[in-house]
Amino acid sequence: MTTDRRVLVHPDRDSLAGAVAARFITKIIDILDENDEAHVVLSGGSVNTAVLAAIRNSPAQNNVDWKRITFWWGDERFVEAGSADRNDLQAREALLDHVLVDPAKVHPFPSTDEIADLAEAAEAYAAELAAAAPDAALYPRFDIMFLGVGPDGHIASLFPGMSGVTETVKTVIAVRDSPKPPPLRLSLTLPVIRSADRIWLVMAGSDKASPLGLALAGASIEEVPAAGAEGRRRTVFFVDQDAAAEVPENLIAPSY
Ligand code: 6PG
Repeated sequence: MTTDRRVLVHPDRDSLAGAVAARFITKIIDILDENDEAHVVLSGGSVNTAVLAAIRNSPAQNNVDWKRITFWWGDERFVEAGSADRNDLQAREALLDHVLVDPAKVHPFPSTDEIADLAEAAEAYAAELAAAAPDAALYPRFDIMFLGVGPDGHIASLFPGMSGVTETVKTVIAVRDSPKPPPLRLSLTLPVIRSADRIWLVMAGSDKASPLGLALAGASIEEVPAAGAEGRRRTVFFVDQDAAAEVPENLIAPSY
C-alpha cells in the first residue's frame, strides 16, 4: 500500500454519510478558494446517495458556491432518461435539484432517449469530457471523485474479470454484459479514474469487508477492480465498522 491511501472508520452508515458530507463541504470550499472552478465526479449506490443527501441537509452547504462546480459521473446504467435506475436521477433528487448548480455544468451520461446506440453514447461522453479538458487533454482535472464499491470489488462499471478493467486507450467504455443488472452500462475507465486528484471510496456493510480487505492487501485489478482506485494526490476509504472488519489495524488512520 502506498502512503497516500487511508482508511477512515465510522461507527455506522449514518455517521459515515454525515462525516463524508462534512469533509466534502470543507474540502470543496478550500478548493474553490484556490481555484476558479472544481470538477467533481459522482457515484451511484446507496451509500454515496446517502452522502449527497447529507450534504443537502447540512446548513454548511450554504457556504459552497455550487455554480462553480462541474459535475460528472463515474458510470451510468444505459436506460431511459426518467428511470429510477439512473445514477444521475438519484443524485439530482438527493442533492443537485436542491442547490444552486449551473445546469450547463452538470454532465450526466447520455440516456437511451438521447442516443439509442451504446457505443455511440460512450463516444459522446468521451467527447464531452474532452471538450471540458484543458489544452489537448482528454478529460478535465477532477478534484474529487466519489466511488462506491460492490461486494465483488467493482468500481464504476468496471467488473472483476471483464475486459473493461484493463482498458487503457478509451476514456469511456460501453459495458454490454454487466453481471449486475441492468446489463448495459457506460463507465469511465481506470486511467481516467486514477487521474483524479482525490478518490474517495465510500463503503458500508459487512458485504464490503472482503473487497476492502483484498484491495488493501494488493489484489490484482482483474480480481478486485477497487484495488486500482488510487488518486493522484490522495485516496481515502471512508468506511463503516462492518466494512472495516478485514482491514489490518495498522492501516486505519487515526484521523484525516
Ligand atoms: C450499480 C451500483 C453499484 C454501487 C456499488 C455500491 O451501478 O449497480 O451503483 O456500482 O455503486 O455496488 O453500492 P452501495 O453503495 O449501495 O453499497
